[in-house]
Amino acid sequence: MSDRHSDADQFECDACPWAQNRREFVRQTGLAAIGALVMVGIPPGLAASVTPTRTAPRRRVGANPSYPIPAQDGVQIDHDNQVILVRWKNEVYAFNLSCPHQNTALRWNQGDGQFQCPKHHSKYQPDGTFISGRATRNMDRFTLTRSGNEVIVNVSAMHKNDVDPAGWSASAVHVGDGA
Ligand code: FES
Repeated sequence: MSDRHSDADQFECDACPWAQNRREFVRQTGLAAIGALVMVGIPPGLAASVTPTRTAPRRRVGANPSYPIPAQDGVQIDHDNQVILVRWKNEVYAFNLSCPHQNTALRWNQGDGQFQCPKHHSKYQPDGTFISGRATRNMDRFTLTRSGNEVIVNVSAMHKNDVDPAGWSASAVHVGDGA
């Protein structure tokens, strides 16, 4: 069975209000979320209220899609290339859209601030670390490299943490606070 998801339409992003004024929405949502987290004592990370956005490559480098480095923490989905791009805690990751259990398209669960599989409900942290469910490994990561203000995702180099823990761990780009 292929490790790449074949039905990208399963991931729905109908609630994305970003299309009209993404920047303002992000700013307001971020401030509101941080305030809410402070009130309940949860340290701000990739806030549960983050709404995933649809994205597409800015360009291609050979067969590999290249994306602008996200300006802030968030989740971006490229259905055409079956890539999930995440910025979290000054790291950028590129994941395979497919759940590592049986290849169902993963979704971002805003309520929990986690990825979740709609089929058997496996859950994963924003960095792809497995939390619970039927899956037996973390979300699969692609090798990605920084090129200026973009990250190039090598979609031919996918790392599974159970067989390639070093490759999986190395598949991240550190962007720092101001990058
Ligand atoms: S397909 Fe995702 S947990 Fe089974």
